[in-house]
Amino acid sequence: MGFNIDKIRADFPILKRKVYGKQLVYFDNGATTHKPQQVIDSIVDYYSNFNSNVHRGVHKLSVEATTAFEDSRKYVAHFINAEDDREIVFTRGATESINLVANSFLSLINKGDEVLITSIEHHSNLVPWQQLCEKKNAKLKVVPVSDDGNLDMEFLDNMLSEKVKIFALSHISNVLGTINPIKEIIAKAHKFGIPVLIDGAQAIAHLKVDVQDLDCEFYCFSAHKAYGPMGFGVLYGKKEWLTRLQPYQYGGEMISSVSLDKTTFNEIPYKFEAGTPNVSGALATVAALKYIKNIGIDNIAKYEDDLLEYATEKLLEIDKMRIIGTSSEKTAVISFLVGDIHPYDIGTLLDQMGVAVRTGNHCAQPLIDNYCIPGTIRASFAVYNSKEEVDYFIEALKKSLAMLA
Ligand SMILES: Cc1ncc(COP(=O)(O)O)c(C=O)c1O
Repeated sequence: MGFNIDKIRADFPILKRKVYGKQLVYFDNGATTHKPQQVIDSIVDYYSNFNSNVHRGVHKLSVEATTAFEDSRKYVAHFINAEDDREIVFTRGATESINLVANSFLSLINKGDEVLITSIEHHSNLVPWQQLCEKKNAKLKVVPVSDDGNLDMEFLDNMLSEKVKIFALSHISNVLGTINPIKEIIAKAHKFGIPVLIDGAQAIAHLKVDVQDLDCEFYCFSAHKAYGPMGFGVLYGKKEWLTRLQPYQYGGEMISSVSLDKTTFNEIPYKFEAGTPNVSGALATVAALKYIKNIGIDNIAKYEDDLLEYATEKLLEIDKMRIIGTSSEKTAVISFLVGDIHPYDIGTLLDQMGVAVRTGNHCAQPLIDNYCIPGTIRASFAVYNSKEEVDYFIEALKKSLAMLA
């Protein structure tokens, strides 16, 4: 399919909404994306036609639900080019995926070991590692970021050593939009035998992800940031790593056999999927990924890059504009401040004019502290945003600034 913005916009019913009598302009896609009709329909279809629990019934509906659920795993594996669908663990989202790995690493970390993260991480990819280090008396080491929003690669080189037991970093920063050179970083880490977890929460909807090409040990994302449902996520893990790790949660389905004396665990990926899974979430995620595939991720990336460039140029025409995150490798996120106006004030006025942006620390408080700022206003784009919306946003921003002057 070619790129037809009007047709794409028509797929998203919520875009017709008005807020305070104004046409909605939704630029909070870094927080969550809207859902196309195809995704909404897939949820309705599941509950209307074959809702049933999976993996445990002999009856027709259960068999159908199980087949659809496992086919979803195959599709996700194909989408990110995993070698084997057993490398795909279904979770509630990126946060749960990271917690799963951090908790499963408990037995692999000893006193004095190091865990490496970066200073641009979302709290979801910081707090689980901090907790792991506290529990095990290990050291949390943090790769710094330079003023433009790029990781300091010289520092990184000096921080890599055999003491580091895992390196967890984001593919794309949710605040700065920086696309980290993760392939290069993973190769550097591997020279020291360090496994790497990539938090792909901000990447999966914006650029091609090929886990075999990246050669990462773990990659995770949430469906809701890629036009899919909330409460559903993916953890990719290399087979040998998933096999080696201990389960994170215990209960039904993740076991092989249970007696009152002992439990043995199921094979991968099931040993990480305790309890009834979110079946409709899996199906709706596939609908979302197919939606992306149908447009073409390269077409999406190109379109969003143009939007980013256009919006950046327009913003920079505004007096006292400060963009936080100016890497040349960026995706569709612009964080900014104007003079010393508090981000919240601007965000509130924009909202009154129908423009939804994010304000605050974006769950990356250490990064915001690093820039010594109170937070930012963040406009983050998706495939359905348009230049006309950017124009409206710029006008609304100018009006807000005039009111605050
Ligand atoms: C970079 C990054 N990592 C992790 C997360 C957490 O995602 P979720 O809340 O869907 O688990 C987010 C959410 O904003 C994010 O931007």
